[in-house]
Amino acid sequence: MSTVDALQSFWNARYAASEFVYGTEPNDFLKLSLDRLPRGQPVLCLADGEGRNGVWLARQGFEVTSVDIAEEGLRKAQALAREAGVAIRTEVADLATWDLGVARWGAIVSIFVHLPPKVRRDLHARCVRALVPGGVIVYEGYGEQQLRHGTGGPREPELLPRLDELLAEFDGCGLEHRFSGVREVYEGAFHHGEGHVNQLIARKPA
Ligand SMILES: C[S@@+](CC[C@H](N)C(=O)[O-])C[C@H]1O[C@@H](n2cnc3c(N)ncnc32)[C@H](O)[C@@H]1O
Repeated sequence: MSTVDALQSFWNARYAASEFVYGTEPNDFLKLSLDRLPRGQPVLCLADGEGRNGVWLARQGFEVTSVDIAEEGLRKAQALAREAGVAIRTEVADLATWDLGVARWGAIVSIFVHLPPKVRRDLHARCVRALVPGGVIVYEGYGEQQLRHGTGGPREPELLPRLDELLAEFDGCGLEHRFSGVREVYEGAFHHGEGHVNQLIARKPA
């Protein structure tokens, strides 16, 4: 089985249940970051899973594209959007190879997207190119100390970057927020309890 097939089958199996395993409410940090997103510009939600973040942003008036490797997740995202009376565009794709475009998005949202270091570094460089001038990255993911907590996220240390690694990947963008520490994460059955997270809001120069 190829790596992409293995990833797809893992995530499709996780999303096969009818319940929303990360909940239907948006990520806490994204909610707090809402006023940083430029209005009137499209938003890309990376690895949006079952769509809780993309659908919420569409409900706030944004044009949203959600990309994820798991078809089952995006099927639920479309159902969530229908229930909310909004439209989102969904695309089943591997972020290691998906073309984000150039100067296309007003905001790129990355919430609990844990990729191998080489893929992550390359994706983040492409994110910066894909933002319009003045566009913003909103990032939250588990950090390197999350293994001590065991409240969610991957068990492979290489999928848990340090904040300084992330800062280097968004070098050249203006940093509007940075945080590395513990917060309570209650976002569905798989994110449950005190977790060590890294957060960033980084803006491409206008
Ligand atoms: C922990 S879930 C988070 C989902 C969503 N961002 C949220 O916060 O509810 C991680 C997501 O990453 C997706 N994913 C993992 N590797 C991927 C890849 N290479 N390309 C696209 N999506 C990927 C999975 O399918 C899954 O939906």
